[in-house]
Amino acid sequence: MSHHDFTTLVDRSAQSSAKWAAMHDANPEVPPGIPPFSVADLDLPIAPEIRDGLQAFMTDAVFGYTRPPTAFTQAVLGWMHRRHGWEVDPDWLVQSNGVVPAIFTAVRAYTQPGDGVIVQTPAYYPFYAAIESNHRRIARNPLVIRDGRYAIDFDDLQRLAANPANKLLVLCSPHNPTGRVWTRAELRRVADIALANDVIVVSDEIHFDLVMPGHRHTVLATVGADIAQRCLVCTAPSKSFNLAGMQASNIVIPDADLRARFVTERDATGFIFLTTLGYKACELAYDQAEAWLDGLLALIDHNRLLVRDFMAKRMPRVKAFELEGTYLQWLDFRGFGKTADELQSINEQQALVFFDEGTVFGSEGAGFERMNLATPTAAVAAALERLARCYAG
Ligand SMILES: Cc1ncc(COP(=O)(O)O)c(C=O)c1O
Repeated sequence: MSHHDFTTLVDRSAQSSAKWAAMHDANPEVPPGIPPFSVADLDLPIAPEIRDGLQAFMTDAVFGYTRPPTAFTQAVLGWMHRRHGWEVDPDWLVQSNGVVPAIFTAVRAYTQPGDGVIVQTPAYYPFYAAIESNHRRIARNPLVIRDGRYAIDFDDLQRLAANPANKLLVLCSPHNPTGRVWTRAELRRVADIALANDVIVVSDEIHFDLVMPGHRHTVLATVGADIAQRCLVCTAPSKSFNLAGMQASNIVIPDADLRARFVTERDATGFIFLTTLGYKACELAYDQAEAWLDGLLALIDHNRLLVRDFMAKRMPRVKAFELEGTYLQWLDFRGFGKTADELQSINEQQALVFFDEGTVFGSEGAGFERMNLATPTAAVAAALERLARCYAG
């Protein structure tokens, strides 16, 4: 980890970062040195293995239309094997220029207008858009809080799945925004319900590399050969290695019929290939930057413990849910008795702390905030101090 830099905060304002621009829109007075904690990307220097590899590649690269290179495919298969114990057949791999576009594609491929799509709420907001903008219906399966931890309401899921109008489940695993890493037993129950009711599962596993000590990610397709044939697993190096702007995602679809239907719908959008640089960045990440990812995981682990202990001691009215996976800390601010708008105003205008507002994840998120912890510890610590000052008394 020695040559990996996890302490330099990169101000991405001049790089047209969407997250930094949104912060400046929300509060034009925010001084330099204050970072946002919203959108799930990183304000850290890129892994040197990826930077150097891309620089070397640029020397003689020609940016024409590019099929998936063999080295890229091998890197993806190797990653699934090494990090996830998952043997992926190269035929199962389908590219998409994002996991969100893949979810939109899946909604169109496996459902008809008017059909229901089950989502476990609070949910990553593009899930709602994928359903509604395609004129399908959202079937909400709200997560429940049991003993301070989010859990799946399996009775409700069973009831929704049994309705023949509901054809698809969009699962988020690990779960954004609650930070849950679903156990193998939980995933098996989801699989059983889906299989018994002929519901196809789109498993968004974009955060699958980002799991904290004591927890273990299980790829849905590995809980049984039965569910492997009825699911899509959406993966990407974008969260783990901060490559979202490279727009390179790998959707794994073991079943030939489901794969063909997905590809037909994807190609109907005019998609042909990923970008030449996207393939290369993914290959370099998976083949060469594994140690960098381990350093990032140590940083996230350190930051989540900092937040947990800080809230317990200095802001006990805030409940920090245990971050089991992702780097997105879910915080319950309802103890202050303020409206969502009041919280946003205090955080952004007084504390200069820019979260993703809980309400963007659905009505269940009112009074909650989501904080991106994959950033230098000093920035997290300073933000916590600013919050504590504003909420004192
Ligand atoms: C659960 C989840 N899915 C998908 C995405 C984004 O995917 P992409 O940028 O590949 O479209 C994110 C980004 O935060 C996410 O949290």
